[in-house]
Amino acid sequence: MKGFRLRRGRAVAACAVLAVTLGGCSPLWRRPSPHYSPPAEPARSAAGKIFDKWCSDCHSTAEGPGSRALQRRYQGSLPAVLEQRSDLRPDYVKLVVRHGISFMPSFRKTEISDADLALLAAYLAPSQ
Ligand code: HEC
Repeated sequence: MKGFRLRRGRAVAACAVLAVTLGGCSPLWRRPSPHYSPPAEPARSAAGKIFDKWCSDCHSTAEGPGSRALQRRYQGSLPAVLEQRSDLRPDYVKLVVRHGISFMPSFRKTEISDADLALLAAYLAPSQ
């Protein structure tokens, strides 16, 4: 009887230690330090984000299908990458986006709102 109580006492102590290590400590251990701040998002304007979402698959690099088509069209007389162009006019960008050109699809207002398109046009044609 005495031995049993002793063993039971040890078992309870062992459980308590286990509970503290697994349950009691781990949330504390996982809690981020108050000095931790998540890495800053790379600075990208609202218009840049719209461009990334809808246009970058074809236009962000020289290898994109849009850039390749523009490279063929202009033969290097204008940059193939849209973000490097300085000759684009906002109204032209809006027209192309709403109507499409060659195999570039048109984009509806439910995809890119007029307000977002205005941002996008100003982004691609900043000096106009
Ligand atoms: C599926 C690929 C694709 C996507 C997505 C795409 N484009 Fe294009 N884009 C093209 C192609 C291809 C051309 C060139 C057509 C041609 O041969 O004239 C083009 C041409 C253009 C032109 C005309 C440039 C010029 O010199 O005449 C503009 C402006 C343009 N795209 C803007 C955009 C914008 C803004 C977006 C995002 C909202 C976008 N494109 C998304 C494929 C794409």
